[in-house]
Amino acid sequence: MSEANNKTNKTNLLQIEQLRGGYSDVDIIHGIDLAVAPGKIVTIAGTNGAGKSTLVKALLGLLPRVTGSIHLDGRDITTLSAEDRFDAGLAYVPQVANVFPSLTVRDNLLVVRRVPHVKRRMDEVLADFPALVERLSQPASDLSGGERQQLAFARALMPSPRIMVLDEPTAALAPSLVGKVFDMVRKLPAAGVAVLMVEQRARQALTISQQGYILDQGRCVLDGPAQGLLEDQRMAQLYLGNH
Ligand SMILES: Nc1ncnc2c1ncn2[C@@H]1O[C@H](COP(=O)(O)OP(=O)(O)O)[C@@H](O)[C@H]1O
Ligand SMILES: [Mg+2]
Repeated sequence: MSEANNKTNKTNLLQIEQLRGGYSDVDIIHGIDLAVAPGKIVTIAGTNGAGKSTLVKALLGLLPRVTGSIHLDGRDITTLSAEDRFDAGLAYVPQVANVFPSLTVRDNLLVVRRVPHVKRRMDEVLADFPALVERLSQPASDLSGGERQQLAFARALMPSPRIMVLDEPTAALAPSLVGKVFDMVRKLPAAGVAVLMVEQRARQALTISQQGYILDQGRCVLDGPAQGLLEDQRMAQLYLGNH
C-alpha cells in the first residue's frame, strides 16, 4: 500500500479508509483506501462494473449503506448528508443534467447555494471561462456541448470547493471536446482545487494525474504514481485499454 494511504498521514486533503458498502445488504465496494493530497489530480480507473461510480456515490453521501471512514481536510465527513459535504468543500459535476437549461448562464452561476459575495465570485470564476462571458444573458439551452460543460465546471467552482469529484467527465462528449475537458481539469489545481476523477479514457486521465487507483470487483488492485501505472505493461494490457 502506498504512503499516501498511511493512516497517520495528516497532510492529505481527502482520506478514504476501508470504505465498504452497497445499495442493499450486498457489498459492492469491499474496503477501499484512497487518498488525495492538496492540489493533486487523482484518477480512478478500472473495468466496467468495478464499483467506481459506487465509490463516488459513497464519497458524496449518496450510497444507502457505508462503513469505513472519509476525512476531508482532517474532518470526519463519513456520516454527513450530501448537502453538508458540499458545504464542507466537496464539489461534484454530474455527467448529464449539470446545468439548468432554461436559466441564463448568469443565473446558473448566481443560484449556486451559499456562495458569499456571489457576484464577485462569479467574476473571479468567469476569468477562466471567457466564452461564457459573452453568453451571460442567454439561456444555457443555447450553449454548445463544450460551452455547457464549461458552465457545469464554472458552477461547481462557485463555492470555492477544496476538491472536485468527476465521474467520467468525457463519456458523453463528442471526441473533439474530450481534450478541452481534460484541459479544464488540468487547470483546477492552479485554482486551489484538487481533483478525484473516474475515467474510461484512463491513459489520457493518468497523463494529467499524479496518482492513480485501479479498481476491480469492488477492490483496489493497484495504486501508485500515475506515471508508474502508465508504464506497467501488464496493468496497461488488463485495465487501461486503448484510450
Ligand atoms: N443503483 C444500483 N442498485 C443496485 N446495484 C447497483 C446500482 N448501481 C450499480 N450497481 C451495481 O454495482 C456494481 C458496480 O457498479 P458501478 O459502481 O456503477 O461500476 P462502474 O462505475 O465501475 O462501472 C455493478 O454490479 C452494478 O450492477
Ligand atoms: Mg460508472
